[in-house]
Amino acid sequence: MNDSNTGAALIDGKAFSANLVAQVAERVRALRDDHHLTPGLAVVLVGEDPASQVYVRNKHKRTVEAGMRSFEHTLDASVTEAELLTLIGGLNDDPEVHGILVQLPLPRHIDAGKVIEAIRPDKDVDGFHPWNVGMLASGGRGMVPCTPLGCMMMLKDRVPDLSGKRAIVVGRSNIVGKPMAHLLLAENCTVTIAHSRTRDLPDEVRRADIVVAAVGRPEMVRGDWIKPGAVVIDVGINRVVLPDGKTRLVGDVQFEEARKVASAITPVPGGVGPMTIACLLRNTVVAAARQHRIALPDGWE
Ligand code: GUN
Repeated sequence: MNDSNTGAALIDGKAFSANLVAQVAERVRALRDDHHLTPGLAVVLVGEDPASQVYVRNKHKRTVEAGMRSFEHTLDASVTEAELLTLIGGLNDDPEVHGILVQLPLPRHIDAGKVIEAIRPDKDVDGFHPWNVGMLASGGRGMVPCTPLGCMMMLKDRVPDLSGKRAIVVGRSNIVGKPMAHLLLAENCTVTIAHSRTRDLPDEVRRADIVVAAVGRPEMVRGDWIKPGAVVIDVGINRVVLPDGKTRLVGDVQFEEARKVASAITPVPGGVGPMTIACLLRNTVVAAARQHRIALPDGWE
């Protein structure tokens, strides 16, 4: 409960991710020094979507900064599905590549499902391959999608014992909503997945101790939907145009309203966003270690 009425604590994703990246860099050094192994991440970008270009550039920079190898493959938007599948086949067989990420969305003429299924599951650092999806759903040891993993790390830092808490995930995407719900379930939360057809959404949200908003609709979740003392994780990153023509990034939650009611909340920007790449780097280290049957310290698996 937030009795003091001073507003919610801010969950600082920037600081959290900096800490995680430092741990990754330390683990990369240890793998290199003790096992002569340098984790490598291949990122495939098809076409020229400006947002995707920014993400891919960022991933490359951070991968190299963490001491890992980065392999960038930028393909023309006109590339055929067969050509893309051939590239992935080569990356699957390349021993220097431990993680493969194909930036989404892909052009319409390419079947994204087919491409994801072509990635070797143990190199699928996005955790999107059906094998990894199934492992997450059945409690096995697969690759966990980066954004939900980052949300979970921040949430567990704030609420170490999630058992029995009511959690609502607003949004049912394969990238965030569904895997997030599985992670919460694995922590023994009582989980509701809400979506565009959910009736009485504000009332559903009001019952929750944990609110994860991942719908991609600017400031949809209002302050009076939030149960006092709830923890709010805002996955949304929406660029909105202000009356003066300038733009601003906002989340899926109306931050100023929600922070008055919640006990803790992630800001946008600076909340969940920075955690995604940090978790991608982490997954790449995990993938490299597993492929070489190297045990990682506690907390890594
Ligand atoms: N596009 C937006 N988010 C993601 C992500 O997490 N992984 C990939 N591969 N593409 C994305």
